[in-house]
Amino acid sequence: MSLYAFLRPALFSLPPEFAHQVTFAGLDFLEASGLLKAYCRRQLVDAPNTTKTLMGLNFPNPVGIAAGLDKNADHLAALACLGVGFVEVGTVTPKPQLGNARPRLFRLTAEQALINRMGFNNKGVDHLLLRLRQYRQCGGKAIVGVNIGKNKDSDDAILDYQTGLQRVYADADYVVVNISSPNTPGLRDLQHQDELLELLTTLKNQQQRLDKKVPLVVKIAPDLPESAVEKLMDCLLKTEIDGVIATNTTISREGVTHLSQGHQMGGLSGLPLGLLADRILAQVVQQAAGRLVVIASGGVSSPEHALHKLQLGADLVQVYSGLIYQGPQLIWQTLKSLV
Ligand code: FNR
Repeated sequence: MSLYAFLRPALFSLPPEFAHQVTFAGLDFLEASGLLKAYCRRQLVDAPNTTKTLMGLNFPNPVGIAAGLDKNADHLAALACLGVGFVEVGTVTPKPQLGNARPRLFRLTAEQALINRMGFNNKGVDHLLLRLRQYRQCGGKAIVGVNIGKNKDSDDAILDYQTGLQRVYADADYVVVNISSPNTPGLRDLQHQDELLELLTTLKNQQQRLDKKVPLVVKIAPDLPESAVEKLMDCLLKTEIDGVIATNTTISREGVTHLSQGHQMGGLSGLPLGLLADRILAQVVQQAAGRLVVIASGGVSSPEHALHKLQLGADLVQVYSGLIYQGPQLIWQTLKSLV
């Protein structure tokens, strides 16, 4: 039995958001004492053949942490110890915001799923930058993507994304334009053709004016019909965006309506999202045809599923809900199966 499997019943007896804080308090403590690194090293295999160079970045392996687990870049050192190839922090907004009222995170344990309606709770871009710089100053070398979004009360979404890009570009290894969270009213409308073209053209122009090239990646929803994905991909290719993340959480409740928490509002993630996310991934890979980097996210609950996403043509794969249910073994076993 893994250490996480032993601790999980105690963590799952706590409300989900509190369990998240307790877990990170423990991980940060173990990291600061050097114990986490020593423990993780024993779990990790040497995997020289898993390195990948994409978007000008050298990924030590293709398995990363998805956005939302470390919204404020407060736990980078601990997450990097787990042996992942990259960590995506955020979603961060220009100004700090509290997010939606609690409870806003729900476990659907029987289906290894979560529903969240966090609503971009975060400490703002200034705080995230401070923490990211501290991590780098202490010698942290992990590839860190910064996922940016808009403030709920902002009436100029494009300006919020421009501000986010401007502020983080010097420190981020790549920047993700998140237009697919279901928990910020109107955000997903930015995926529509005209709005998207305006947003991406603006950000692309800004990227070209910056003094180093930070790859721009767009994160999309799994709830788009095939024709909408096609138009969206056309737009990403036309504007020469560097990468796409397929996908964010879903508003569908397929496979969870029988559960007591299955009707909660928000985005569904974890095992039941897998099929839907894979369908979008396959379409994105086919249309991208190698012209932009494809990052898979959604429903990875086993090493087999991570490998399946890579076999579908993803360049990189991210985990979130699977980590809550399986713990870091999910990462270690996936890396072993990659070797
Ligand atoms: C998320 N996710 C997310 N995505 C994003 O782009 N910005 C964010 O702030 C968040 N926040 C967030 C919070 C919580 C509690 C969850 C469960 C998820 C979505 C996440 O990055 C990922 O794309 C989905 O969860 C699908 O992957 P999994 O969880 O099925 O592996």
